[in-house]
Amino acid sequence: MPFLFVSAWIGLAVLAPVCILYYCRRSTLPFPPGPRSPQMPILDAWVTYKEWGKKYGDLIYIREKNILITNSSEVVVDLFEKRSRIYSDRESSSAIRLCGADRIVSLQQYSNKWKQHRKFFEQHFRQSNSSRFYTAQYSKVRELLQNLATEPDNFGQHTMLFSQSLMFAILYGLDISHEDPLARKTVETVATLGQIFMTGFPVLENFPWLRFLPSFLPGCGFKKIANKVFQNLDEIDTIPFEAALQNLHTGKSTSLVAELAQRYEKMPAEIKMIKAMGTTSFIGASDTTMSAISSFLLTATLHPDTQVKARAEIDRIIGRDRLPTFDDRQHLPYVESVYREVMRLYPPVPLGVNHVSMENDIYRGCHIPKGCKIVPNIWLETHLCSLHFSSNNVIRAMNRDPSLYEDPDKFSPERHLNAPAGPFTNINNIHAFGFGRRICVGRYMADNTVWLAIASILATLVLSTAKDSEGKEIDIPGEFNNIFFLFVL
Ligand code: HEM
Repeated sequence: MPFLFVSAWIGLAVLAPVCILYYCRRSTLPFPPGPRSPQMPILDAWVTYKEWGKKYGDLIYIREKNILITNSSEVVVDLFEKRSRIYSDRESSSAIRLCGADRIVSLQQYSNKWKQHRKFFEQHFRQSNSSRFYTAQYSKVRELLQNLATEPDNFGQHTMLFSQSLMFAILYGLDISHEDPLARKTVETVATLGQIFMTGFPVLENFPWLRFLPSFLPGCGFKKIANKVFQNLDEIDTIPFEAALQNLHTGKSTSLVAELAQRYEKMPAEIKMIKAMGTTSFIGASDTTMSAISSFLLTATLHPDTQVKARAEIDRIIGRDRLPTFDDRQHLPYVESVYREVMRLYPPVPLGVNHVSMENDIYRGCHIPKGCKIVPNIWLETHLCSLHFSSNNVIRAMNRDPSLYEDPDKFSPERHLNAPAGPFTNINNIHAFGFGRRICVGRYMADNTVWLAIASILATLVLSTAKDSEGKEIDIPGEFNNIFFLFVL
């Protein structure tokens, strides 16, 4: 007993100065540099962040908002991956909770609930389960090719229909058109949620008690929006779920969700998780997949030489009698390089999704406070370029990090082909899917979908600029953009 007592005192005597020293050092350490009370950009934020980066370096800290922005992949890897124990939370947002959007896994805070949901999700979307989705992917890619070939001007609509209908097919075994009210509702809800995610409801953040007042009172209009989103999310959760279950019961079709619902029939917590997985998948998949494929269409149109080289590879390996399959993937290094280059230059979520720190931390001699929102500017280097696609379509900007890529502004599939490890590196190296413990859960499925669409388009279609009646290329204005997702307009 006396021995224990003495040991405790010795331990305390040693630890106390270390703790005091650590605390004093931390509190006297500077915050990272950054602009004072800047106007936060909403549109093309990545462009402003790049400019700030030139002035302040790799770490740009907005003290009033406790936001740390970084343009450096080294910083992102250091924080999100090497220190993932600290940097894996999401923002606590009363707006998100009020809308019921905390059922969406990507928006959930680091908690047991998130761990459970993510684990459940991973079980069904892990790499070894990918083949389960092949049939739907082949079938929906064929539909996409047909739509692009017959109505090229509407490529935006076709890529959106493809992304959405694929998820309906994969999850629920349902066949939907873009006019389906549920599809429209999903698009509308994703757009509203994107806006709310970016800006919250400022009035609610300042006066949280307003949520208890009725929506018709002045200043409470946000409640109407929140109620609408809540209701939409409930419908997106429930309508396809019930339809899938009914199809299973009547023997019409089976699906991932229906099979799970049957397996967990009497377990309400699991049923909730299945529904949340469905809604999260839609929200995670639709705009991102659409963005990646339309960015490819744009890039391929700009680089006819790439199309020629890819087609030559496909002709040599597969011939012209059939479409590419997943078994062909490893034998098509150039097509793989095109896919990797599109994901490098056009990450569908250019600013990723914020990670939030769960503890105070010290990084590169600076104090990073708990609760800091870290914005990874995946887009990194940005410049604008203009080109034309088919009709009145617009063009985009590009992402590159000179410390990682030589001549980073250039679209060069060859950089992957000639890299020492070749183009078939782990897909976790594709920054477009995010980082660390919050890395995209659907990445294996998404990677297959985007690859198959690209390979199949290269095998069958020639993409070129639209011409006017005199055969001249149509000039298209170079305006673009979006707040959260990257779209070719
Ligand atoms: C090209 C397609 C896709 C891209 C580019 C993409 C990109 C991303 C990114 C950047 C994140 C944030 C990662 C981070 O916080 O560091 C994310 C998260 C997520 N994605 Fe995807 N995604 C795609 C498709 C999908 C699909 C098809 C699904 C579902 C089947 C999906 C489900 C999710 C989920 C559930 C999360 C949240 C992970 C978490 O917070 O723990 N995504 N995705």
